[in-house]
Amino acid sequence: MKRALCACLWLLASVAVSAQDRGATVFNQNCAVCHQPKGEGAPGFAPKLAGTLVERSKTEAGRRYLAQLVVSGMMGPIISGGEKFNDAMPGFAALSDEEIVAVLAYVMGELNGASTELLVKPDDVLAARRQPMSPAAVRRLRER
Ligand code: HEC
Repeated sequence: MKRALCACLWLLASVAVSAQDRGATVFNQNCAVCHQPKGEGAPGFAPKLAGTLVERSKTEAGRRYLAQLVVSGMMGPIISGGEKFNDAMPGFAALSDEEIVAVLAYVMGELNGASTELLVKPDDVLAARRQPMSPAAVRRLRER
């Protein structure tokens, strides 16, 4: 019984770790080129993602925005960390639901310290896919 519990905990821990690793891999392959490997951002072009998104993960609207942003992209002027940006991010609808959940778990968890229950869920990604938006509309969604 004890051994079974140990095996089960080990399995759970390794599933959690591999989900995070997966998110890091998806990030490095798709996002780091603009946002830089540790989400430090590129001044004047792509906003910093590390430590700038804590508040977004705390509300359902914030999580919906993040899911929609990855599915549909975003363009137009924004202010992040006191700095102005006015460029465009492409949508990543070609990623699977699982990859989008994993990459956002990496961005929100690893780069912003959000706890597991505050991460974007598969349902949020599904909702975004059902009603994709124009990149300009995503920027307006960000302002809400
Ligand atoms: C081609 C460059 C590029 C790539 C690749 C890219 N982004 Fe972006 N990202 C941007 C730009 C530019 C903005 C700001 C858009 C604007 O000014 O409206 C942005 C905005 C964001 C924001 C919003 C930040 C905020 O403060 O609201 C998040 C989150 C984000 N990107 C995550 C990602 C993730 C996750 C990926 C990979 C799946 C990714 N980005 C890939 C360029 C990129």
